[in-house]
Amino acid sequence: MDQKIREEVFQACAEDLCRGRHLSRDQWRILLEGRTRERAEQMAKKASALRDRIYGKRIFIRGLIEFTNYCRNDCYYCGIRKSNKKASRYRLSKDEILECCRAGYRLGFRTFVLQGGEDPYYNDQRITELVKEIRKEFPHCAITLSIGEKERESYEAFKKAGADRYLLRHETANEEHYRKLHPKELSLSHRIRCLETLKSLEYQTGAGFMTGSPGQTVETLIDDLEFLERLQPEMAGIGPFIPHHDTPFKEEPQGDLELTLYLLSLIRLLLPRVLLPATTALGTIDPRGREKGILAGANVVMPNLSPENVREKYLLYDNKIHTGKEAAECLDLLKKSMKEIGYEIVTDRGDFLRK
Ligand code: 5AD
Repeated sequence: MDQKIREEVFQACAEDLCRGRHLSRDQWRILLEGRTRERAEQMAKKASALRDRIYGKRIFIRGLIEFTNYCRNDCYYCGIRKSNKKASRYRLSKDEILECCRAGYRLGFRTFVLQGGEDPYYNDQRITELVKEIRKEFPHCAITLSIGEKERESYEAFKKAGADRYLLRHETANEEHYRKLHPKELSLSHRIRCLETLKSLEYQTGAGFMTGSPGQTVETLIDDLEFLERLQPEMAGIGPFIPHHDTPFKEEPQGDLELTLYLLSLIRLLLPRVLLPATTALGTIDPRGREKGILAGANVVMPNLSPENVREKYLLYDNKIHTGKEAAECLDLLKKSMKEIGYEIVTDRGDFLRK
């Protein structure tokens, strides 16, 4: 934090952002380097007010079904990476997944998020089948997929089968930083191409990144913000990096709570209508993380709908929460804590609001 960034300089950048003007890299740098507690609070208020104007005091919920932790990739940060031989692998069957949806529907969920590693068992045909069945049984619910990088034809087939949304965090928009986080088989250019394909197929598309991932700097964060501005995603997933003990990044420090909240506010101001979750990782590093996320500008929470016996196996990072307010069956706790801060959990698909 550079106290030397003068108040009027900071405020001029903040005002440009709030007015929807394009910011230069220098202006982003001033906003990121000039962060103080008071300024972060001020940005959170502006972000919150903007979200309230567009979406009201309504918080959307998504039922998260972590249906497989098999993964062919080897990302250095992730606990379910292929090389982690200690991970206890599982995959849910189609019927088990449908049961999760039924339980979720009864609880009031109208969006199901199917998230998994890139599991070869769940090939295009099986995913298509699965989506078709969910679509048939729940014609009015949104189906979100979060299953990684695929060919255009696959994304097309899933869309045709009934999928509405797709989450694929870009992780970092900086080439060099991307290389520090991923093995050579993976490339930023391919990931970005996937995101562009998803947009062109008219998925509501989610990008995003971890705050405080190893090698992240103010410059890489500016790349991320500029990338989000260019892509115009309908959703953005932003949460702190949390080390996992069986990964190459086990000794790396965890991402910072305050920086994560500040970025949520900046992203709300940059993309006023974006669907922005207060993530599980945020709830993991602070017991009031989700509430703080909402007060910083987020408007979505994603409780866990997976069967309880597999929840402890979908460990992307250490100490991942999966009980209490995080659990779909404890929705009442979440409703209460949102009510306490002036927000209401709603039973709604919670689609992106176009102008
Ligand atoms: N800490 C925080 N988030 C993580 N993810 C993966 N590993 C970690 C970790 N160690 C995030 C990635 C991925 C999403 C599903 O979870 O950003 O896209």
